[in-house]
Amino acid sequence: MSKLRIGVLASGRGSNLQAIIDAIEAGTLQAEIALVLSNKQDAVALNRARKHKIETHFLDPKPFKDRPDAREAYDRAILEVLGKHRVELVVLAGYMKIVTSVLIDAYANRMMNIHPSLLPSFPGLEVQKKALDWGVKIAGCTVHFVTEGVDEGPIIIQAAVPILEGDTPEALAARILVQEHQLYPQAIQLYAEGKLKVDGRRVLVAGGSTQGTAALISPA
Ligand code: GAR
Repeated sequence: MSKLRIGVLASGRGSNLQAIIDAIEAGTLQAEIALVLSNKQDAVALNRARKHKIETHFLDPKPFKDRPDAREAYDRAILEVLGKHRVELVVLAGYMKIVTSVLIDAYANRMMNIHPSLLPSFPGLEVQKKALDWGVKIAGCTVHFVTEGVDEGPIIIQAAVPILEGDTPEALAARILVQEHQLYPQAIQLYAEGKLKVDGRRVLVAGGSTQGTAALISPA
């Protein structure tokens, strides 16, 4: 059977991309990266891809910026590139542009995002700082399907990370990132195996937990 073709959109350092590459190379994720696309020419993510002989594409947003439909036009251009590479699943990995309905509709229930909070708490940016400022005791990360509302799509999988005494946003972000690197390849593998079914707001995960009472209590 042919492998799931994924297209990764990334704007920055690409550590989640790297985790996906590593999982594919380790054989725990049965997929192939058809393309890594970035809106930033100097994104470290592009270099990571090149090192692994993965196709890359820098799509410059500048030529679009004066158009009244700049964001949609940009997403139409992305769509064309994704189509050329026969991408089946779009994976947003630190992609710091808000996607429009152009992409969302074309890849409905076929586009995932990872976010460094336990959604629906703390959507948006600088969320580790927001979690600390709010005083929550448990933070975490979420992989979800992408819908129109930013960070609002149906949740696929989450990991909880305790807040520690004296945590800084940076220290917390680093601990959450470790979990992101586990979670994202897992979510993609579940999709590749056809185990995810979207039912309204909920994602039904075939073979998901049916029992277990272990709770993360923080502070322990
Ligand atoms: C990750 O922490 C990811 O969850 C976050 O950006 C970082 C990208 O790191 N994404 C968002 O905040 C999206 N709202 P990476 O480039 O090393 O994968």
